[in-house]
Amino acid sequence: MGEEVHTDPKAPVNSLLAMRRATPAEASILLAIRREAILTLAAPAYGVGRAREWAEGSGRERIERALDLNEVWVATRGDELGGWVEIDEDRVEGLYVRPEYARIGVGSALLRHAESQIESAGHLTVALDASLNAEPFYLGRGYEALGGKPTDRGRPMRKRLGDSSP
Ligand SMILES: CC(C)(COP(=O)(O)OP(=O)(O)OC[C@H]1O[C@@H](n2cnc3c(N)ncnc32)[C@H](O)[C@@H]1OP(=O)(O)O)[C@@H](O)C(=O)NCCC(=O)NCCS
Repeated sequence: MGEEVHTDPKAPVNSLLAMRRATPAEASILLAIRREAILTLAAPAYGVGRAREWAEGSGRERIERALDLNEVWVATRGDELGGWVEIDEDRVEGLYVRPEYARIGVGSALLRHAESQIESAGHLTVALDASLNAEPFYLGRGYEALGGKPTDRGRPMRKRLGDSSP
């Protein structure tokens, strides 16, 4: 019997997913994942026009700045990148999952990883601005809305670390 090879992206992720820091050479693929994620996964909440504005509102320099100044982690399965997360101090600045990998736990795994990095750095809370489409996702993972109107960047949310919430 040969080694089992998983080619179905919807196969269970758990043990197959690995986290590592993104490299500068991956700027283009990170940009492509961001674009696909917004156009496919955020468009139902925003409409195609606004989703396109969001996706195209920042380009390669946005990714290069993230790689240069912040911590960017990718979730990989074999040679494939399933998604990425950007951390700036105690903030999750971006979280994007490839549509083919959506709703199988990649976003949750990336978020958990970011939270543990933030906690290891000594912070007590995680802050982020949730896009409209992602609000249920964050609410289900222990985040609370901070009140006030959502800004262009989304609804400010926060999670206290060290809680037993998901
Ligand atoms: C939000 C996002 C990161 C979630 O990634 P994901 O890998 O699909 O998330 P997971 O599989 O870990 O978790 C899925 C769970 O989150 C919730 N969820 C995710 N997307 C949702 C949506 N559009 N509507 C309602 N609930 C949603 C559900 O509870 C879902 O669980 P279920 O499949 O059992 O119903 C992904 O949809 C994405 O990249 N969106 C576009 C970019 C974006 O908005 N990023 C966040 C910026 S703040």
